[in-house]
This record gives sequence, structure tokens and C-alpha cells, in this order.
Amino acid sequence: MNIRSTILLSLLTSSAEAHFRVPFPGERNATNWDTQTISPCGGDNAVVFPRYEWNPKGSPVEINYHHMYGVGAIYFCGSGNCTTGADFNELIYEPVDQTKGNFCIPAVQLPEKYNKINSTGVIQIIYGAPGKEDGEYDFMYNCIDVVVSNDGPTFDGQCSNSTEFAEADTVEIRCRSQS
Ligand SMILES: *[C@@H]1O[C@H](CO)[C@@H](O)[C@H](O)[C@H]1NC(C)=O
Ligand SMILES: *[C@@H]1O[C@H](CO)[C@@H](O)[C@H](O)[C@H]1NC(C)=O
Ligand SMILES: *[C@@H]1O[C@H](CO)[C@@H](O)[C@H](O)[C@H]1NC(C)=O
Ligand SMILES: *[C@@H]1O[C@H](CO)[C@@H](O)[C@H](O)[C@H]1NC(C)=O
Repeated sequence: MNIRSTILLSLLTSSAEAHFRVPFPGERNATNWDTQTISPCGGDNAVVFPRYEWNPKGSPVEINYHHMYGVGAIYFCGSGNCTTGADFNELIYEPVDQTKGNFCIPAVQLPEKYNKINSTGVIQIIYGAPGKEDGEYDFMYNCIDVVVSNDGPTFDGQCSNSTEFAEADTVEIRCRSQS
């Protein structure tokens, strides 16, 4: 079972407590609290214009994560209409353990074949957090609509990592393959 089938299962176990935001550069819908557990894109399935300009060298992403712990990963959809979870088939940031607070990735780079000036696509950030039952996970989704441009930002201190819960124990969650 891969993450996509896990995501479908998670629809049945969605939790209203599931939250994260993308303060930089921003996201499709910063108020999708009630639908953030719906794949893909936290329930918002249409491109929001204008798209965020994405530097071919990679642009920064700031995630503000509200759970005590979880695992986050970033996917990309570069072709098709990006309306199903399966469309987001390019992993662009490997799953990483995360505690509550700010997580700042200085340069998220798009896959080479889509990293061409004026190419458009959708970045999807997915978090898995422990659910109410042991071995259960709640998944959360937010998307960023992008267009590749030399005017896209590169890292210049737009965000920083928080140390708020740095000493908290992290749990290992097999976000990618729960086989
Ligand atoms: C954002 O998502 C919420 C549902 O959680 C919805 O009510 C609202 O209309 C959405 N906003 C936009 C701008 O799409
Ligand atoms: C998205 O693409 C799929 C597969 O080509 C198609 O079935 C679906 O109608 C498309 N949706 C929209 C909103 O264009
Ligand atoms: C990108 O799009 C802009 C605006 O449409 C256009 O002026 C420019 O020539 C395009 N650049 C490339 C490399 O396609
Ligand atoms: C935040 O932490 C991640 C993971 O350790 C690291 O890759 C990244 O460079 C850090 N961000 C900043 C702005 O230092």
C-alpha cells in the first residue's frame, strides 16, 4: 500500500484538529480548516491565480505545523489537471519528521523536466499525524499554484525554523509506504 491508498483511507478518519499553514509563499486557501484532510489540496481543487512565481534554482517554503508531531513531504503535479491525488506523482521533498512550530525549507526545487521558464504546476504539501487509534494516521493537504520564473524568490531570510518544541520526542511514521 503506498501513500495514495493511505490517503484514501484517511478520508474516513479525518480529524477536525488537523492543521498546518504555508505562510510563505502562501497557499490556495488559508482558511480551509474544515476541509484540509481532503485529498488533494485540502478540498480546493481549482487553480488560484495569480500563480506564485517559482525560481528555477528553488524557492523557499515556510510551513507552520500545529500538531505535536508528524511527518511531512512535498509532491508536485506538472502535467494534467492535478485534480486527483494520483496526479501528484513527483516527490520533491523527502518525508521528514516534524514537531510543532515553523519549518523553513530554503529551496524547494521542481523536477527537472518541469523546471522550465513559464512551466506551470501545483505543489502539494502532505502531512501525516498520528490519529486517535494506535497505528492510525490523519493526513492533511495544502497546495501552492506555481509558474517557473527567474523573478521567483530565492532564500533571503523569508522564514526560519522554530525551536519551540525542539526537545519533544519525535515519532517515526512511515508516511510513504505503510505496507
Ligand atoms: C476555503 O475553504 C473553505 C472550506 O474549508 C471554504 O469554505 C472557503 O470557501 C474556501 N475559500 C476559498 C477562497 O476558496
Ligand atoms: C481532469 O482530467 C481527467 C482525466 O483526463 C478528466 O477525466 C477530468 O474530466 C478532468 N477534469 C477537469 C476538471 O478538467
Ligand atoms: C514566458 O512568458 C512570457 C509572457 O507570456 C513571454 O514573454 C516569454 O517569452 C516566455 N518565455 C519563455 C522562455 O517561454
Ligand atoms: C530548517 O531545517 C531543515 C531541516 O533540518 C533544514 O534543511 C533547513 O535548511 C532549515 N532552514 C533554515 C532556514 O535554516
